[in-house]
Amino acid sequence: MSSETTEPTENAADNEKRPQFGTRLLKDDADVYKHNAWDHVEWDTEQEEAAQAAVAKNSTIKMSDDQRERFQSDAPKFWDSFYGIHDNRFFKDRHWLFTEFPELAPISNNEHSEPRSIFELGCGVGNTILPILQYSTETQLRVYGCDFSARAIEILRSQPQFDDKRCEVFVMDATQEEWNVPFEENSQDIIVMIFVLSAIEPSKMQGVLDNCYRYLKPGGLLMFRDYGRYDLAQLRFKSGKCLEDNFYVRGDGTMVYFFTEQELRSMQTKAGLVEEQLIVDRRLQVNRGRCLKMYRVWIQTKFRKPLLKS
Ligand SMILES: C[S@@+](CC[C@H](N)C(=O)[O-])C[C@H]1O[C@@H](n2cnc3c(N)ncnc32)[C@H](O)[C@@H]1O
Repeated sequence: MSSETTEPTENAADNEKRPQFGTRLLKDDADVYKHNAWDHVEWDTEQEEAAQAAVAKNSTIKMSDDQRERFQSDAPKFWDSFYGIHDNRFFKDRHWLFTEFPELAPISNNEHSEPRSIFELGCGVGNTILPILQYSTETQLRVYGCDFSARAIEILRSQPQFDDKRCEVFVMDATQEEWNVPFEENSQDIIVMIFVLSAIEPSKMQGVLDNCYRYLKPGGLLMFRDYGRYDLAQLRFKSGKCLEDNFYVRGDGTMVYFFTEQELRSMQTKAGLVEEQLIVDRRLQVNRGRCLKMYRVWIQTKFRKPLLKS
């Protein structure tokens, strides 16, 4: 996995209010840590137990059904406000995008390349779509993106790298049963979901993945990256913010789920997809200025639609 750490971590507004969760570095440790991040960090039993205890503590009290319904029904409004505040500044450039997902990288010799179609669900302000448009010279590439935040789509369309000849973006709630999309079923070579399924209520996740299956070409690939169970962002939640187990509301009203490998394997397999990659990326980040050790957990998967339905 790449050593770049540019994912959205938490909403910035939340970070300001909350103390950082993490292990304080001893003064001597700070000298030992000459780097700021380590890949493939192993967790010991003590750390696993501390994470379990933190989650047990912050999820004992669940929000009421009324509160929960409000956060779910107003979800597009909360994301609109988020983008109203942060515009395109919050999610940083992803240096890891083409190394983790080389399938999205520009094809160097494209003279005889087949037409390709990429669809991003919950594309936000274009942190994936814009680099693809910027670096690809494929003449036959078609890129689509949807988000249920009209504000995000407006910001994306106004970016200088946006190119409406090769790309179409539109407002759509991915949890609706029937997708209203400008392409046919069985038509997409690649569907991308980056930090999106975690924003969707768990009871609707399977339906979203089932629709991904419908719109992927036979042989097409669903590429996914999102929060893993016990990520720092989960451990930092205070009590009273939990909607259901492992599903929380941030201070700005946006929701977030923290996945296990098994959950992602089982939902995607149930949708009819076949596993090609499932990586848990456990990483240690050190903020030497604040003397903090921070453990991040992300999950990356690639599942393919079989050529023939089994
Ligand atoms: C954490 S952001 C990630 C944005 C983008 N994928 C990225 O990586 O920069 C989550 C995005 O999912 C969108 N989203 C959440 N629920 C959605 C839904 N049901 N349908 C469509 N978009 C949704 C939000 O508006 C937001 O733009």
